[in-house]
Amino acid sequence: MSSSRLFTLFSAAALVGLQFLPTVTSHVAMWHPSMWGFNVTEQTFPYDNRPVSPLINYTFEQWWFHGHLDHPPNDGDIFQLPAGQAATTELGCNKGATTFFASSEGGDIRNASNPNDVCPGSQPDEYHTRGFDDLTGCALAIAYNSDATQVKPEDFTVFSVNQTCVWTRFTDFQVPARMPACPPGGCTCAWFWIHSPDSGGEQNYMNGFKCNVTGSTSSVALATPKVPRRCGADSANGKWHASPGNCTYGAKQPFYWFQAEDNNMFEGTYAPPFYTDLYGFKDGQQDDIFEDSYSFLPDPSPTAPLPVLNTTEPILLG
Ligand SMILES: *[C@@H]1O[C@H](CO)[C@@H](O)[C@H](O)[C@H]1NC(C)=O
Ligand SMILES: *[C@@H]1O[C@H](CO)[C@@H](O)[C@H](O)[C@H]1NC(C)=O
Ligand SMILES: *[C@@H]1O[C@H](CO)[C@@H](O)[C@H](O)[C@H]1NC(C)=O
Ligand SMILES: *[C@@H]1O[C@H](CO)[C@@H](O)[C@H](O)[C@H]1NC(C)=O
Ligand SMILES: *[C@@H]1O[C@H](CO)[C@@H](O)[C@H](O)[C@H]1NC(C)=O
Ligand SMILES: *[C@@H]1O[C@H](CO)[C@@H](O)[C@H](O)[C@H]1NC(C)=O
Ligand SMILES: *[C@@H]1O[C@H](CO)[C@@H](O)[C@H](O)[C@H]1NC(C)=O
Repeated sequence: MSSSRLFTLFSAAALVGLQFLPTVTSHVAMWHPSMWGFNVTEQTFPYDNRPVSPLINYTFEQWWFHGHLDHPPNDGDIFQLPAGQAATTELGCNKGATTFFASSEGGDIRNASNPNDVCPGSQPDEYHTRGFDDLTGCALAIAYNSDATQVKPEDFTVFSVNQTCVWTRFTDFQVPARMPACPPGGCTCAWFWIHSPDSGGEQNYMNGFKCNVTGSTSSVALATPKVPRRCGADSANGKWHASPGNCTYGAKQPFYWFQAEDNNMFEGTYAPPFYTDLYGFKDGQQDDIFEDSYSFLPDPSPTAPLPVLNTTEPILLG
């Protein structure tokens, strides 16, 4: 991050949030007992590795699952993903701002007059957005493997996006109707977020959690996920028109960006990748991630023809 940006971030925090800084923190995590790192505090690691801490320039071991693979959820704590329905997550800058405050060091800091407050006591700048128009989306990804230690970055497929993340504590993610059942021990999931460059330094967020698809009616597997590509209109970077042939269609991996190792995205400081149309991620459930989703799926490029959806697949509306 440039020093002027650093200055902007810190002076903004000083101006708007100083009186609250001792009790709150400025970043966001998805909180649920099914997550890895549920009880990790500022003291657990030699550095601040709470689930809300941003991941920047980290080694693979540090950023993958937030470095929390040795802090698994308790047996039986599983996040349910009902096929064709919404799953509600809780996002907060502190566990105390969520339903799970009882095991938070600071206790209950929820805002009684606004249950959807992501970060009671702080301005949106402190959770990296200048306002509703500055939201960049977040994503849930899944790997059909119950053993998180065996999951590799290229195994995760983004199955749902909420483009208005992280505006509200309760954030819904639509689950595609055609999600197949998980293996016997369940699946492995993760929440991902990259915020706007207008609101602080370049950072990745990742929280892994144990998940399971319920109410499944399809057995068609997910396609092998590919790396997403920048293809939407991008006026902030002087690109006025979308380039639809340039999108990756179908199953896509999450963004692994700005770490010291194992990135799949190499965008610069001021042009981060987002879970929005900019990278071909529609708002809501990703219905085209299955092996049979397309009857024609060319390699993407600015001049590539558009893919064709397989219209003979059973239509299950989510
Ligand atoms: C990442 O860390 C390395 C080693 O600590 C350092 O040399 C490099 O400048 C850092 N890069 C960024 C972008 O912070
Ligand atoms: C987290 O802490 C709470 C309260 O101490 C405890 O009941 C729970 O089992 C812990 N969960 C994990 C995954 O360690
Ligand atoms: C709680 O939410 C209300 C309504 O949005 C807001 O006016 C108030 O400042 C919030 N309180 C805190 C401590 O953030
Ligand atoms: C995103 O989450 C908000 C808050 O829960 C919800 O109102 C909205 O419908 C969600 N968007 C999608 C596409 O599901
Ligand atoms: C996952 O959900 C399916 C369908 O409800 C259920 O049969 C299975 O036992 C669940 N798996 C786990 C690990 O809870
Ligand atoms: C196409 O996608 C690549 C990879 O994300 C990107 O570098 C390039 O700028 C994009 N080109 C256009 C015209 O959108
Ligand atoms: C299209 O979907 C049907 C029904 O699932 C399937 O039999 C067929 O193989 C699919 N076509 C392609 C090209 O995947």
